[in-house]
Amino acid sequence: MKTINIAIDGPAGAGKSSIAKEVSSELGFIYVDTGALYRTIALYAQMHDLDSDEALISQLDDIDIEINFIGGAQCISLNGENVTDDIRTPEISMGASRVSAIPEVREFLFDLQQKIAREHNVIMDGRDIGTVVLPNADLKIFLTASADERASRRYLELQEKEDCPTYEEIRADIIARDYNDTHRAIAPLKQAEDAILIDSTNMGFHEVCEEILSLIQKKLDLED
Ligand code: DC
Repeated sequence: MKTINIAIDGPAGAGKSSIAKEVSSELGFIYVDTGALYRTIALYAQMHDLDSDEALISQLDDIDIEINFIGGAQCISLNGENVTDDIRTPEISMGASRVSAIPEVREFLFDLQQKIAREHNVIMDGRDIGTVVLPNADLKIFLTASADERASRRYLELQEKEDCPTYEEIRADIIARDYNDTHRAIAPLKQAEDAILIDSTNMGFHEVCEEILSLIQKKLDLED
């Protein structure tokens, strides 16, 4: 059976994951957050003090990542241990951006991502989904927003937490990650030629969800 694959790419903090989660639950699709895979590799590197690319590459065979979907939510295990929450720290965000520039790491995660898309109707979000991982996706969205807006949203999200970074720190982090992600030699973040651009700087969460749902519906009606 042919599965339906929707790709959402875009920079850090554009709202990809919350929007993809909402839209996929509306449609009964599985939501795959591919950033979590790079984060898990970064966590492994951190746990084992692997400072150089070579050291990490030499241990890739020892890394077993498993993704499970529990009630539509993605849970991720690293060598049998649930690390879903451990990968959400600012250090791991930066570490993920660093390890994602290593070609061997991208290759390592490529098959896993394609396999999930072959087996499920998915909305997959990341940086290179429309360009590299699912070049034949049924619909490709490039979701972005200004760096200021993305930093404000992240700040609002984190404000309640202990050790919340300042707005300036969050903004600097976002700008540094944008730079890394768009300038790396392999599979850099860029809009696929056939992707639809949505700039959500002045749009509300529900407005973006509605727009994406309507694009998917149109696409599926055409394919019938
Ligand atoms: O989406 P995120 O912020 O959780 O992603 C963390 C990092 O992983 C991001 O800075 C770049 C990298 N990444 C990638 O290179 N390719 C993807 N498909 C997803 C994430």
